[in-house]
Amino acid sequence: MSSYQPKNIPADERLIFALDVPDIVSAHKLIEQLGDAVQFYKLGLELFLSGAYFELLHELKAQGKKIFADLKLFDVPATVAAAVRQLDKHQVDFCTVHGQDSMLKAAVDAAQHTRVLAVTALTSLDQGDLNDLGFQCDPASLVLSRAKRALQLGCAGVISSGLEAKALREQIDHQLLVICPGIRPVSNDDDQKRTVSVSEAFALGADYVVIGRPIRDAADPAIAAQEIQSQIKAIYP
Ligand code: C5P
Repeated sequence: MSSYQPKNIPADERLIFALDVPDIVSAHKLIEQLGDAVQFYKLGLELFLSGAYFELLHELKAQGKKIFADLKLFDVPATVAAAVRQLDKHQVDFCTVHGQDSMLKAAVDAAQHTRVLAVTALTSLDQGDLNDLGFQCDPASLVLSRAKRALQLGCAGVISSGLEAKALREQIDHQLLVICPGIRPVSNDDDQKRTVSVSEAFALGADYVVIGRPIRDAADPAIAAQEIQSQIKAIYP
């Protein structure tokens, strides 16, 4: 595979902030605090179950933000396709679907606007967890085989830990988008097990990083996000 050519992605959209909060009040507070420091929001399951999901999604779209609907769809293909058609109506930019062929194919075929990302292996899983789940392989092999299939099926990219990004870049067509959660700017004492720093993730081949708690729980979330944006700008001036 030839050396990786960075994609034409605006530098300030390479940080995707995971807006993992329980209600619209906390969401509004963070969105206001963050202002221009965040251009791309990931809206996940917690917000979805708050009942405020689409209200917030439309507000963010009206502010010109990009939206990643991280609902990690997993169901029979017809239901996954129907769910993706619903997301499409809301001009969602990215959505996630678990990395099983029939589900991914249904999602890709249903999507008009939304780009489908395959979940390869959750970054909270390590080798012990995969063994417990009955997988006969290591996280790296699972991510690689699922990513290859995802691209063949027409997915825009994959969610993968930064640790696996290097192998993806070496072994898979570079048009594949690699989106890396599990980023820990400093120390890590939470549930993320396969973590890398922001600069490591991009050096390893990430196109986007997804960061939640290190921004949300910072004393000043805007400063935390701006610091990450500065690191990204230094890599992609
Ligand atoms: O708070 P933290 O930075 O760990 O947030 C990571 C976000 O990325 C969470 O919203 C989590 O759901 C999501 N994610 C992940 N691993 C994946 C896919 C998504 O951690 N494989």
